[in-house]
Amino acid sequence: MKNIDKQSLENAYRLFETKAIDNIEIGTTKGLQQIHQYLFGGLYDFAGQLRTKNISKGGFRFANALYLKEILVKIEQMPENSFEEIIAKYVEMNIAHPFMEGNGRTMRIWLDMILKKRLKKVVNWQFVGKELYLQAMERSPINDLELRTLLAANLSNEINNREIIFKGIEQSYYYEGYKKEDDE
Ligand SMILES: Nc1ncnc2c1ncn2[C@@H]1O[C@H](COP(=O)(O)OP(=O)(O)O)[C@@H](O)[C@H]1O
Ligand SMILES: [Mg+2]
Repeated sequence: MKNIDKQSLENAYRLFETKAIDNIEIGTTKGLQQIHQYLFGGLYDFAGQLRTKNISKGGFRFANALYLKEILVKIEQMPENSFEEIIAKYVEMNIAHPFMEGNGRTMRIWLDMILKKRLKKVVNWQFVGKELYLQAMERSPINDLELRTLLAANLSNEINNREIIFKGIEQSYYYEGYKKEDDE
């Protein structure tokens, strides 16, 4: 588990370091799968592949695997014209939860790509507290106000700032229980 996460974190750094990120589709299911493949290729046998089993977290059941493909077609067609629309799309993608594992880390990169393209902004994840964020995500299928407020307060115009990007990746892995310092 730990080792997979460590290697995946290195893959995430490399995605930005090598500019491979520039070849990934923005706002589509395919783009999401490309990111997942990049982060987890060689680590999970299902890297880049949609799940065929039903899953739940904290009592919340994500989209039924039987309808996942159709749901994803609808989600990728959702508009991205404003911050509100982009967050609504992100929330729906989280409800879909297309992969067996790695959804959170993959989707935060996917979200930032959309924000960067449409609004010339990214989330400064290093300042988005773990508890607040995870609470807001749990709440989001019912009401996304909490999530919108939290992320709106932490948007940055510095879309090419390395520190913001790399600290953001570390924070994203920290949300999922992985701490870089643990192996140092
Ligand atoms: N109860 C919940 N309801 C809705 N979304 C949730 C819930 N719990 C966690 N999440 C979202 O799911 C993500 C974790 O999904 P997961 O597939 O385990 O991704 P990763 O492996 O990257 O952690 C969290 O970052 C959060 O965004
Ligand atoms: Mg996980």
